[in-house]
Amino acid sequence: MLKAVSLLVVVLVVGVTIFDGVESRKTKRRIQESFDYSAISCRAHTASILDFGGVGDGATLNTGAFQQAVDHLSQYASEGGAQLVVPAGKWLTGSFNLTSHFTLYLHKDAVLLASQDIKSWPVVDPLPSYGHGRDTAGGRYISLIFGTNLTDVVVTGENGTIDGQGDLWWQQFHKKKLKYTRPYLIEIMHSDTVQISNLTFLNSPSWNVHPVYSRNVIIQGITILAPVTSPNTDGINPDSCTNTRIEDTYIVSGDDCIAVKSGWDEYGISYGMPTKQLVIRRLTCISPYSAAIALGSEMSGGIQDVRAQDITAINTESGVRIKTGVGRGGYVKDIYVKGMTLHTMKWVFWMTGNYGSHADNHYDPNALPEIKGINYRDVIAENATMAARLEGIAGDPFTGICMSNVTIGLAAKAKKYPWTCTDVAGVTGGVVPPPCQLLPAAGEGEGMCDFPAENLPIDNVELQTCSY
Ligand SMILES: *[C@@H]1O[C@H](CO)[C@@H](O)[C@H](O)[C@H]1NC(C)=O
Ligand SMILES: *[C@@H]1O[C@H](CO)[C@@H](O)[C@H](O)[C@H]1NC(C)=O
Ligand SMILES: *[C@@H]1O[C@H](CO)[C@@H](O)[C@H](O)[C@H]1NC(C)=O
Ligand SMILES: *[C@@H]1O[C@H](CO)[C@@H](O)[C@H](O)[C@H]1NC(C)=O
Ligand SMILES: *[C@@H]1O[C@H](CO)[C@@H](O)[C@H](O)[C@H]1NC(C)=O
Ligand SMILES: *[C@@H]1O[C@H](CO)[C@@H](O)[C@H](O)[C@H]1NC(C)=O
Repeated sequence: MLKAVSLLVVVLVVGVTIFDGVESRKTKRRIQESFDYSAISCRAHTASILDFGGVGDGATLNTGAFQQAVDHLSQYASEGGAQLVVPAGKWLTGSFNLTSHFTLYLHKDAVLLASQDIKSWPVVDPLPSYGHGRDTAGGRYISLIFGTNLTDVVVTGENGTIDGQGDLWWQQFHKKKLKYTRPYLIEIMHSDTVQISNLTFLNSPSWNVHPVYSRNVIIQGITILAPVTSPNTDGINPDSCTNTRIEDTYIVSGDDCIAVKSGWDEYGISYGMPTKQLVIRRLTCISPYSAAIALGSEMSGGIQDVRAQDITAINTESGVRIKTGVGRGGYVKDIYVKGMTLHTMKWVFWMTGNYGSHADNHYDPNALPEIKGINYRDVIAENATMAARLEGIAGDPFTGICMSNVTIGLAAKAKKYPWTCTDVAGVTGGVVPPPCQLLPAAGEGEGMCDFPAENLPIDNVELQTCSY
């Protein structure tokens, strides 16, 4: 038996030597564990952050080690790609950039700690579709993990942690002491085929996960936690992205759990890149001051074909909310929501046509958003203060609203009139309490307000089992 084991070890070591070279032999010794994970693609080469001088003591700054590791491993892009393993430990780091055909893998007890030395964070330009930073007019602190113009990139782990240590940033933001817009934990820009999975994100300085101008994005099995009073700690913000799937996520945050976006006022209109073909399923959200899913408020490039299913929200302001206003332009259309279970909500349904919050004073007052084809079905809510607050825009009503099979239990201290509706049009079926007159009953058809029959292409992407 012992012999067989040592033989196996020899075979493994020889195998590793032949296939992966010197670097990985060292790595293997240091990681001393094997693991499986699922990903869009597996990698031929492996290294550990230890191979690049990383120190996981929570005090040593590892920015250089991470950037050297990625730069070094980028040479394998055309030879089967590479994975960088981060072992157990606390890895203090500033921002670093990812590369193509690359996997960043965090061990379950690995914690990336974002540096709190604000002065050392590089500043990058505002996004072209926003024209400005979100906090201040000028640039933006680059995200902790950043990637642009990439193909085939994976950030995953066995629920390893990325801790933004946002407290200092939130204080500086409240004191209006920041020169630039706060960083996000991860931003992937202009990229194709992206996976972010099985990780925990803690205390982001601002938004957590921001795929932008990208396509074929899978975000799966992530936990996002931030104090519910922390400023703008949105969970996941798909922004001008096509073909995105977000599933099995648990988010507690100080802003919208998921905020679907596509650029801001005249900048978003001129950039003209929508978010479309987005699937969100099995989301659990706690966000007392914001929505489980917001569409907007920056939606000037358009939002189309969003399918949200099996959404649970607890102690959250509203369910799937539309936020827009005059000057935004763009559209929000073909939105499908099926299966929401909601406990303790202010408004189950909320649409806002006067959100304000402009990039600057140069927005076009004639740029009216088109809000059309908003479908909700199979909704159960308990302890809601109001059923709905639906406010379209005068002269630009929100149309094609459809609600079916909705049961809303109102709170003991509920408002007297559970529905308020202005400048909206649509139909309802099997909705309790009875809706406002602008949403008359139109029967209780089987498939009323249902999803389109065909899957989206992102639904057909299957993950492979990779091992190391
Ligand atoms: C990371 O990418 C950004 C944007 O392309 C760039 O400004 C920055 O210099 C890069 N950082 C490093 C360390 O290469
Ligand atoms: C990244 O892609 C965008 C959009 O295709 C392009 O405009 C930009 O020049 C590219 N940047 C680099 C550094 O290749
Ligand atoms: C991941 O870790 C977070 C934070 O510790 C925890 O709340 C969550 O349940 C874990 N998720 C899984 C799938 O183990
Ligand atoms: C990753 O998360 C998915 C979805 O939550 C889960 O099915 C899978 O078991 C997880 N994989 C690992 C390696 O933790
Ligand atoms: C119902 O909602 C109110 C807030 O409107 C909250 O204070 C109360 O705890 C909730 N009750 C239950 C049973 O969740
Ligand atoms: C109505 O919605 C509930 C869940 O909220 C679901 O269990 C039930 O099947 C739905 N009924 C119909 C007719 O679709």
